Order: sequence, then C-alpha cells, then structure tokens
Amino acid sequence: MMQQLVLIGFMGAGKTTLSQALGAATGWPVYDTDDLVVTAAHRSINTIFAQEGETGFRHREHAALETALTHTPGIIATGGGIITQAANRALLAALDIPVVLLTVTPAEINRRLAGTTDRPLFKKDWPDLLQDRQPWYEASANCILPTTGRQVADLVNELQHLLVEEG
Ligand code: S3P
Repeated sequence: MMQQLVLIGFMGAGKTTLSQALGAATGWPVYDTDDLVVTAAHRSINTIFAQEGETGFRHREHAALETALTHTPGIIATGGGIITQAANRALLAALDIPVVLLTVTPAEINRRLAGTTDRPLFKKDWPDLLQDRQPWYEASANCILPTTGRQVADLVNELQHLLVEEG
C-alpha cells in the first residue's frame, strides 16, 4: 500500500479539509505546506508576502514541500500555487504516489472563500489566475477528484481506495 498522497488544487478546493479528514481516517500524519511555511517563518502568510513578496513565499513553500515529502506515511496538503514552480512540479513528477487534483466550481470557490483575509493572491480576478494555472494543475496530477456537492466522507473513501489500488 502507498504510504503517501499529495493534494493539489486551487484555493478553496478543499485541500486542507480533505487532508485532515483523510489523516483522521488513515491515522497518517498530515503535512500542510502553508502551515510548515508559517511555522518555520514565525510569520503569517500575509506578512511573508508583504515583507518578501511572492518570490520569498515560493522559496519557503518549496522548502516546505521538500520537508513534507520526507515523511512516510504522510498526507500532504499543498498551497494552491505550488504547481506554479517548476522545481515543485519536478519534485511531484519524480514520485510514484497519488497526486490528486481537487476541483470545484467557480461558484463554490466564491462561496467558500467569501470574506477570506489570509490569502494575498485571492482577488477579484482570481478566475484569470486559475485559467493560467490550469495546465500545471492537470500536468501535475495523476488523478482528478471533483468535489462540488460531494460529502467529505465519500471523498475520503475514494482517496483510500486510490491508496490501496495504486499500492
Ligand atoms: C496560494 C494559496 C494559498 C497560500 C498562499 C498562495 C496561491 O494556499 O499558499 O496564499 O498562490 O494559490 P491555499 O490554496 O491553501 O489557500
């Protein structure tokens, strides 16, 4: 059985929620690149972006992904922009583990992220950002899981099947 699984997808796709639920169901620890960045920097994502720009954040995020991938077993939740970096895409492509793209409708993204204040790149023009990233999401994933209207428990079930099947 596979001992690692990576969740990718746009902001609001449910990476954090699903990683926690899958972690609870499998008993495997969960590593969230955003959390690892914040913990290592002792600063919020907003503060890192303000002080170091997106470039600084991406460097930290790459280090966080590398760290997360050293842990087996492990469920790894990533930030929505992880696939914008070639080095991260190369890391994920080199692994023989499920890299699952969570997808969600634009209306659901707007609903879930209404009032969000800790995502510096979530702005009015977010659909353009998603469109720019779409090829990278699809190229980086070896499995696509639509989440709109689905129950977390059902999605966890599917992910667990994936771990057994591909293992
Ligand atoms: C980002 C997504 C965020 C976080 C940062 C940048 C992005 O993570 O890494 O604000 O570029 O899409 P979530 O996808 O967990 O919101």
